[in-house]
Amino acid sequence: MEALVPFDRTGRGVAGRLTAALRTAIEQERLAAGARLPSSRELAADLGLSRGVVVEAYEQLIAEGRLVARRGSGTIVAASVHTRQAAAADPFVAAGLRPLRPGIPDLGLFPRAAWRRAYDRMVTTVRDADLDYGDPAGPMAVREQLAAYLGRVRAARLTAADLTVTAGAAQAFALLGRVLSADGHRTVAMEEPGSRGVREQLAHALDVLPVPVDDDGLDVGALERTRARAVVVTPAHQFPTGVVLAPARRAALIAWARRTGGLIIEDDYDAEFRYDREPVGCVQGVAPDVTVYIGSASKALAPALRLGWLSAPPRHLSRVRVHKRSIDLGGPILEQYAFADLLATGGYDRHLRRARRAYRTRRDALVSALDRHFPGRPVHGVAAGLHLVLALPPGADDAALAAAAAARGLGPVALSACRLTEGPPGLVLGYAAHTADELAEAVAVLARINRELP
Ligand SMILES: Cc1ncc(COP(=O)(O)O)c(C=O)c1O
Repeated sequence: MEALVPFDRTGRGVAGRLTAALRTAIEQERLAAGARLPSSRELAADLGLSRGVVVEAYEQLIAEGRLVARRGSGTIVAASVHTRQAAAADPFVAAGLRPLRPGIPDLGLFPRAAWRRAYDRMVTTVRDADLDYGDPAGPMAVREQLAAYLGRVRAARLTAADLTVTAGAAQAFALLGRVLSADGHRTVAMEEPGSRGVREQLAHALDVLPVPVDDDGLDVGALERTRARAVVVTPAHQFPTGVVLAPARRAALIAWARRTGGLIIEDDYDAEFRYDREPVGCVQGVAPDVTVYIGSASKALAPALRLGWLSAPPRHLSRVRVHKRSIDLGGPILEQYAFADLLATGGYDRHLRRARRAYRTRRDALVSALDRHFPGRPVHGVAAGLHLVLALPPGADDAALAAAAAARGLGPVALSACRLTEGPPGLVLGYAAHTADELAEAVAVLARINRELP
């Protein structure tokens, strides 16, 4: 404490000087919010002062709101004035809600009861032998349910034998990166802008070549001009622009793959959510010979499950499984069985219908709040998924706006953060995880922050 609160202990006015030294230490956050101060008796002994002096200083700082006296836990540094003001102005800071963060479903909708029933059923019925190290691709019974679901809902053309269950789409990308690298690929093309996470997962093994996206999705002509022989695409709902890969582009992409021996890596990350029409089927269903299909339960259920899947042409699939085995000997079995049970009993479909209804309303609420607070600013992305893009005026600093918003408890992502190259500024805004009222309030705060930016 002596070092933390230096002050002159000689002469008159020592209580005032101790108070001032403590005040400075709190303001400069050398004494951080929540830190417990020594008892008045201990501090007095420590500093060689009478206890009354310390009591006087503590009482003054308690009166100022800088310290809090808690029965049983002593005297504690209060949250800083700055933090308290920010929290009062922005309830999101205090609650840690981060509204507008893209890519996250409403975790409050997680079907806990259905999941518990599914898990219970599985834990009671799996055989002892099922609890052994299993097939690194995941139990066959799980993959059968998944294959049936993907065929029915995404028009995928695959069987259980083609699938490997992974720890989220993230692991599928990481595994595939290794396989392609071992296969002699040095680069992988990827939509620009695109997912930062996916780029990172691939960048461990490969150089990622950005290929531009326009209103029709990936520019296949630009892809053809690169040396890449593998490309990551999000055809159903491009991340982050939200466009759909146009039919002519789909055809051109498949033609590119067949002509060059190229590989289409289809990230079908949020395809279950389409609000104005049925989603288009996946590219894999049309071209299984040249497509690796990657999916995830992160957007439909919860990222915490770490449940994803990959289907690949046989040549790649066997090596994906070798890597999967060498990395983790396979994923958690009981969770996979519970997921399969949810698929088989219709619990997954019921949950998706419920989530879809909520997200459609929330998207509408976000769009109308943006209309109100950012008049004239275009909103990009079809009515699908969990996010949209707010276009900012040319020259706007989207990274600065996203950083200022983050400091106020909001979660938008700058479009520039999703790029390797220069491009028009914008914000990627998620809407699934918050109510219409919360979104309206978040957009009002965002507009205020935008006006206050230099
Ligand atoms: C474009 C994209 N693909 C895939 C994923 C899913 O990743 P995971 O299944 O590892 O949670 C995300 C999640 O943020 C994403 O944004």
